[in-house]
Amino acid sequence: MLSAYGTGLAVMPRLSQALAATDPVEVEALTGDVLLDGKQATRGVMRYALSGQTSTDPSPPILRARRGEAFKARLINRLDEPTTIHWHGIRLPNDQDGVPFVTQPYVYTGDRFDYAFSPPDAGTFWYHPHCNTLTQMGRGLAGVLVVEDDRDPVFDGEVVLNLRDFRLGGDSQFIEQFKPRDAAKTGTFGTLRTANWQPEPVYEVPAGGLIRVRILAADVTRIYNLKLAGAKAQIIAIDGHPVPERLTLDMAVVSPGQRLDLAVRIADSEGAEMVLEDIRPSTPKVVARLRAVGSSLKRNLGDLGPLAEKAGVDADLSNATEIPLLLSATAESAARDSICGSIGYSFWAINKVPYPGDTPDPTAPIAELKLGRTYLLNVENVTPHAHPIHLHGMNFKAISSNKREVQPLVSDTYLVLPDEKVQLALVADNPGDWVFHCHIIEHQKTGMTGYFKVT
Ligand code: C2O
Ligand code: CU
Repeated sequence: MLSAYGTGLAVMPRLSQALAATDPVEVEALTGDVLLDGKQATRGVMRYALSGQTSTDPSPPILRARRGEAFKARLINRLDEPTTIHWHGIRLPNDQDGVPFVTQPYVYTGDRFDYAFSPPDAGTFWYHPHCNTLTQMGRGLAGVLVVEDDRDPVFDGEVVLNLRDFRLGGDSQFIEQFKPRDAAKTGTFGTLRTANWQPEPVYEVPAGGLIRVRILAADVTRIYNLKLAGAKAQIIAIDGHPVPERLTLDMAVVSPGQRLDLAVRIADSEGAEMVLEDIRPSTPKVVARLRAVGSSLKRNLGDLGPLAEKAGVDADLSNATEIPLLLSATAESAARDSICGSIGYSFWAINKVPYPGDTPDPTAPIAELKLGRTYLLNVENVTPHAHPIHLHGMNFKAISSNKREVQPLVSDTYLVLPDEKVQLALVADNPGDWVFHCHIIEHQKTGMTGYFKVT
């Protein structure tokens, strides 16, 4: 499928599904040609398409669920390789978590798999494959999952931004997804930056209105340093969780896997533009623009009620068991092979053990946790690179760091800085095998992966 989306005025994807309790939304994983860079169609783009999707817009569809209500999705695999869907950040039953060999079998070409769960938390989450992940995510597969809550304040509009790069050559075609040299460092960067698969899209928003902007860093490598010029903005949630106190957005670091929810007061004058920029490393890059339309609604950020409260992490720190988690480079440089998408190298390790990849026989768990008990994950990064470390199925709360003042935020992903030692409190409240890995996918696929067993 080919469609023309370049720069210029973009249409916000409106591919949300109204979900009847009985019908699963069909999520097809497919491969096709998509015009990404405005020059020439890129072949072999992997994308999700929803049932009943009438638009030809290939940009990643947004799924919507409601807090506490049944959500059902049927993955239909039309790729020519196995895949699965992982629901990143959602506290769900283990067998719905989408990790091949750990929680479910492969979904082979032509097969389908029904996922069902009732998301206990509202917020901005996402979904992506957990199979041959560097290729499948690198070529496009990843979308936002919005979990709505009736109790949340009403905004005048919403903009969802799925941020990522594509690694294309001059002929607009995919080039090799990674360089071993870079995989052993920060990860390999893409060449074309996009929001909703468009370079620098522009979204029209009501002048003087209050807009909720949901941002997802879906890139396999890039850590964003985001700034919004031309409007007042507050951070209202991080990784789907409301922040205890709204923070004025100065610059926000959003690493692979993380989400940032902003409340933005749009400028009053028609035509005014607000620019979301990534200011790292040195030359700011435009990510997306918001353009004010109509006469001013004259709204006030102060009028906005709080987001509905969510379950915290009810940690019993006086009774916590400490678990050391050393993030290091591996001494072993042997090439590794595995079934579902090994990339053939081993560079990283958790507690000195590099994960062998998604094999039918996973290595032993990093630790066995007792259901209901509190744990303190003592994560220590002895590498010169940052690692956004992600836990499936449960949330943790940052307690302390040797490098910075930590906010007691509840989350599923924490960016561990070089030489940082951080304590994350966790209540093992969800039984099953839960994967724990770096979300820089080259690090994940070259050893920085493990899992906890909760019984
Ligand atoms: Cu978003 Cu195991 O990952
Ligand atoms: Cu990493």
